[in-house]
Amino acid sequence: MSRSLPTQPKLHVFPDYDALSSAAAEAVARKLRAEPETVFLLPTGVTPLGMYRRLVEMHAGEGLSFAGATFFNLDEYLGLPADHPASYHVYMRDNFYGLVDADPHRVHVPDGSAVDPEAECERYEAAMTEAGGVGLCVLGIGRNGHVGFNEPGAPFDSRTRVVRLAETTRLVNAGDFEGARAPERAITAGMRTIFEAREILLLASGANKSQAVAAAAGGEVSEDVPASMLQRHPRATFMVDQEAASAVVDAG
Ligand code: GLP
Repeated sequence: MSRSLPTQPKLHVFPDYDALSSAAAEAVARKLRAEPETVFLLPTGVTPLGMYRRLVEMHAGEGLSFAGATFFNLDEYLGLPADHPASYHVYMRDNFYGLVDADPHRVHVPDGSAVDPEAECERYEAAMTEAGGVGLCVLGIGRNGHVGFNEPGAPFDSRTRVVRLAETTRLVNAGDFEGARAPERAITAGMRTIFEAREILLLASGANKSQAVAAAAGGEVSEDVPASMLQRHPRATFMVDQEAASAVVDAG
């Protein structure tokens, strides 16, 4: 069972990571059953792994089908070929798209090896619009409040673009790379791109996300905390576990 706190956006607190992951998967499945042709905008990272695992189980065990849906990924490192083990192409293939019946023609990840990255950003943004706009966006959150790769200071009116990663993000994500840091730049869906999704779920787990969750869910709405923009969205829900909720002031 989740507990709802009286904040805007809605905050659902789950006892642990497993409960959070199951509920997130159920929310995706519910959307898919109601609208099989939903356009999804999806995250990478450690946090959504449990949700993807559960969705793969639902596909194998209950026949949940993704064949009619369209998928976009939030971001990709710039300069990585699609087959680089740390690329989000590989992450999504190995954890989700390659394990369900997603139509490869309707699976989109920004091309981090594009010769003209700016043109790739424009193409990617246009593809989302052509697909009818995003119905459900699932987000993780960085320790500094980033969503996708929109780092602190990202303009709320930004669209898909090339960004420079914060040093802290490059260190946090360094484990996926042989060097001491993740790449310097990435392509990310912008804040406005994300905000235009008709529904948004933000997932967070663990104590190291508690400050970011508190600032995003209950702090001032500011470009310094990109996820705080979600406070202005009519259908945004934060789904977090107890530890990630631990710094939220319970007004109830
Ligand atoms: C990464 C990704 C984000 C993700 C975030 C948190 O850098 N670009 O999309 O939400 O950081 O990742 P994790 O879930 O591993 O903590």
